Amino acid sequence: MFDSPLLVLLCILLALPLALLVLAIRRRRRARTVSAGAASNPSLPAQQESSLPLIELNDVHKSFGSQKVLNRLSLKIQRAETLGILGMSGGGKSVLLQLIVGLLWPDRGEIRFKGRSLEEMSESDLLDVRRRVSYVFQSGAIFDFLSVGENIAYPLRERGMADEEQIDRRVEELLDAVELEGMGDHGYDELSLGSKKQVAIARAIASNPEAILYDEPTAGVDPMIGKTLSRLIRKLNRRNNLTSVVVTHDLQCLATVSDRIILLKDGRIHFEGDLEALYSSPDPFVQAFVTGRHPDGKIAS
Ligand SMILES: Nc1ncnc2c1ncn2[C@@H]1O[C@H](COP(=O)(O)OP(=O)(O)O)[C@@H](O)[C@H]1O
Ligand SMILES: [Mg+2]
Repeated sequence: MFDSPLLVLLCILLALPLALLVLAIRRRRRARTVSAGAASNPSLPAQQESSLPLIELNDVHKSFGSQKVLNRLSLKIQRAETLGILGMSGGGKSVLLQLIVGLLWPDRGEIRFKGRSLEEMSESDLLDVRRRVSYVFQSGAIFDFLSVGENIAYPLRERGMADEEQIDRRVEELLDAVELEGMGDHGYDELSLGSKKQVAIARAIASNPEAILYDEPTAGVDPMIGKTLSRLIRKLNRRNNLTSVVVTHDLQCLATVSDRIILLKDGRIHFEGDLEALYSSPDPFVQAFVTGRHPDGKIAS
């Protein structure tokens, strides 16, 4: 059939664009599956996926050198709940939050987001998890040379929002949400510590996350401001069905925000229950936290 070289060449020339087209379609399909990966679990029907915990830790171990920080920790965080986490200073609370967003990796065990193991995710799916699970760092992670508005606009620009009017509108919305209406032009430097924490929360909710992890959100502020921040955390949780994890030693904050509380000891969960159960627990270690005194005399924090 292909006795003429000219005919062969003609066939190749005709087949090549077709092959390239098929390849391009297959690559686009794959890209679509990957980018939808962290948003939802492609291996599960939507209904089944929504019944899974949003975040799950299974038998997690984490050490630094010879120091065991988390030891066989298992935990399920349900959608729209607010989980309070108590524990001694240096007890692994911040490490736990960093593991949840894949900033640290467990030595053993696994962490799942919507049923999918972080370890099995591609780099882009992990980035997506970090967009969906915002982390309000203890230090705020804010640029103090920028205005309040520019600080809040930063993550919006980073995610590709370019229309200045749209950015201004969204910044105003976010300022309203954290009760800092009209403060966009203020220098970040001029703000009180409480307001700086509100700016950090505004930045964290800018990407419409499904969960927020707060690391000591009321640390260092006076009790009145602490109360305002706690109410804000609760309001955001209720209004947006935001799953919230709050690491704190502030019992008033826990009383305002938490549906459930866990207390860490020796790298695992020592107590789990609601505020009432926490206060009525006869366990000496739990009582140390309720009264603010650790059994060995140190202040619990
Ligand atoms: N990246 C790290 N490298 C080495 N040690 C760390 C690291 N992060 C945390 N640690 C150690 O792990 C322990 C738990 O830290 P952390 O989770 O920050 O405690 P906290 O409960 O006060 O938040 C501490 O002793 C801390 O020094
Ligand atoms: Mg910490």
